[in-house]
Amino acid sequence: MTILAIESSCDETGASVLIKKNGEISVLSNIISTSLDLHAKTGGIIPEVAAREQVKYITPVIQEALTQAFAYELSASPPPIDAIAVTHGPGLIGSLLVGVETAKTLSALWSKPLIPVNHLYGHIYANFITENRAIEFPAIALVASGAHTDLIYLASHNDIQVLGQTRDDAAGEAFDKIGRLLNLEYPAGAKISELAQKGDRSRFPLPRPMIGSDDLDFSFSGLKTAVLNLLKTEGFDFSNTDFAEKNQQILFDICASVEYSIVNVLVRKTSKAIKKYQPKSLLVGGGVAANTQLKEALRQMTNDTAIAGQAKLYVPPKDLCTDNAAMIGAHAFFLESKKDTSLVTAHPGLSYL
Ligand code: KG4
Ligand code: ZN
Repeated sequence: MTILAIESSCDETGASVLIKKNGEISVLSNIISTSLDLHAKTGGIIPEVAAREQVKYITPVIQEALTQAFAYELSASPPPIDAIAVTHGPGLIGSLLVGVETAKTLSALWSKPLIPVNHLYGHIYANFITENRAIEFPAIALVASGAHTDLIYLASHNDIQVLGQTRDDAAGEAFDKIGRLLNLEYPAGAKISELAQKGDRSRFPLPRPMIGSDDLDFSFSGLKTAVLNLLKTEGFDFSNTDFAEKNQQILFDICASVEYSIVNVLVRKTSKAIKKYQPKSLLVGGGVAANTQLKEALRQMTNDTAIAGQAKLYVPPKDLCTDNAAMIGAHAFFLESKKDTSLVTAHPGLSYL
């Protein structure tokens, strides 16, 4: 089966062509255009700006995905695909509509079935792109992105349970909001991680919210407040260029502590879920899964003698952790197409169930 997948839930516009054959998934193209440069200047995503950019880029991005896959030029005669998959939520309404309406138009023009895909499952199914044959159920998924921090139990492809979620900020959101306090560009996760490498995480110990709580929920807003308080009490002002230049080590040390705190909470709660539910696989996904320290800490945790052999760890390659269309296509292989495509629409608040 060959799928053209489209993703436009947030600030990225993506299109990908994938084939599933004899249980193996191969990606023929995976094109992404982002408006992050525009958002970096404003310190966050402005939905209107994101959607306007997506309107500009959706056609060229789809064209490029089809050119790379089949040297195909957009026209009324269809490319050699069996279906079109599109993210229908969750996300920003304007952004989602760009992808959904484009997909519906192409589906009607080419008479190809349309498969609506939940972005959150996309992050989990990014793991199936390289590991479809290996992944065994039951599985636990840790989805850590800019908007979500979720622990999910998957008994099978279509029998799932939400074990825990963040009660306030998501892990990626915590990185981004703390980045703003530290005068770093949006999104700040990768930058904080890079600066943390030169830092000492024990110099400014930060809280690890809810790390010991009985449930599998998360909370990261207290961490952001702790950083804000630290900056205020110590008089650290990284928006002041003179201060920032003279005190780089302080920035590195704070970044190291922030990363350590977030990673530690994510790993501890995931470990708790594994001990309780004893899955065969641990599927990690979302932008924060691109974090090297998180991957390393999860690797150590799954090798830990107390839970050894219980869960095999899967983390997608970096470019499949952050938003992309290939992960949307990957989940579409396990779903049915909609008979009535007029019912496919954008669901900004879509959840797992
Ligand atoms: O999954 P994603 O691309 O978009 C959403 O669905 O939200 O995740 C974006 C988030 C941002 O908050 C970004 O700061 C974070 O992922 N992120 C990272 C890293 N790369 C991206 N966080 C920590 N370490 C990274 N290397
Ligand atoms: Zn995402």
